[in-house]
Amino acid sequence: MQSLIFTNDVTTAINRLVNSIDHNLTVWITDVNTARYAPADAHIITIDDGDERKTLETVTRVWDGLERHGATRHSLVINLGGGMVTDLGGFAAATFKRGMRFINVPTTLLGAVDAAVGGKTGFNYNGLKNEIGAFAPASDVIISTRYFDTLPVQEMKSGYAEVIKHAMLSDRKEFLRLLEHDFNAPIDHDNLLERLRRSVQVKVDIVARDPNEQGERKALNLGHTIGHALESLAMRHGKPVPHGYAVAWGLVTEAILSHLILKFPSEDVHLLGTFIRGNYRNFPFTCDDYNELLALMRHDKKSRDGEITCTLLTAIGDYRIHQTVTPDDVTAALDILRDILGV
Ligand code: GLY
Repeated sequence: MQSLIFTNDVTTAINRLVNSIDHNLTVWITDVNTARYAPADAHIITIDDGDERKTLETVTRVWDGLERHGATRHSLVINLGGGMVTDLGGFAAATFKRGMRFINVPTTLLGAVDAAVGGKTGFNYNGLKNEIGAFAPASDVIISTRYFDTLPVQEMKSGYAEVIKHAMLSDRKEFLRLLEHDFNAPIDHDNLLERLRRSVQVKVDIVARDPNEQGERKALNLGHTIGHALESLAMRHGKPVPHGYAVAWGLVTEAILSHLILKFPSEDVHLLGTFIRGNYRNFPFTCDDYNELLALMRHDKKSRDGEITCTLLTAIGDYRIHQTVTPDDVTAALDILRDILGV
């Protein structure tokens, strides 16, 4: 069972944890931006930032680093960084000498609310995202908001889409509270840490019931069938968008589909749409892109037999996985999305 620690006194939490774990050596894995947060005298392996470096070559660099520092199966890894570090560092640690204990300390909102928790590790292969990997949970995750003051607002928005997703899967009051957020205001750390605590718990509960994604964990895919297609298309067209922006647009589209197919309340579609319109602008797609988007959805890793399947909602907190939607449904929902976003 993964232990989760929510605190903004990260240094104390790490020291306590490391002192409580029987091990012979600690090695930190960071990226170029987060290396400065590791202690000056630490053994550090620094990897390059960016999804295009999430490769087997980078994994081998981490294994080489672990060898160089003299790590054994009895050593401890601390992954300090965003999703790239916790995914790839987790995989490297889980496979080195058949597996070492590792702790995740996410430094981005997206990492804290999603990547660092739940045990998915891996790297991209043959142009496919997270194609190779393993379910290998960090023994402990230390979640804080202390690194967020220096995060670009675009990064905060990207992670926040996953926070909204978790509320949509669980709790309408929390959903409404989240829609009051103002990205221009300074971060209220206590409040955001509480939002994170609630959000991560939603994921933890689902993962506990279905750790290897045989069924219910697919609920966490809400917003992602459409979102992944939008993200891939933007990438293909040389105009990449942040993951969470694509998820935000995907959440609205799948809320519209939920309304069309399962009578999800239109009021909540509009509340969500208004928030996304206000904060996630520059939707770079037109109706000319629909066919390519539909083809991408049919080839989604999680689709079955070329059908387009989504997680949909009958209401906030009441999800249905494996819902098949037709190309006409998707096209209608994308039209309504573009209307809501005013593009
Ligand atoms: N990111 C969704 C999951 O971990 O299942």
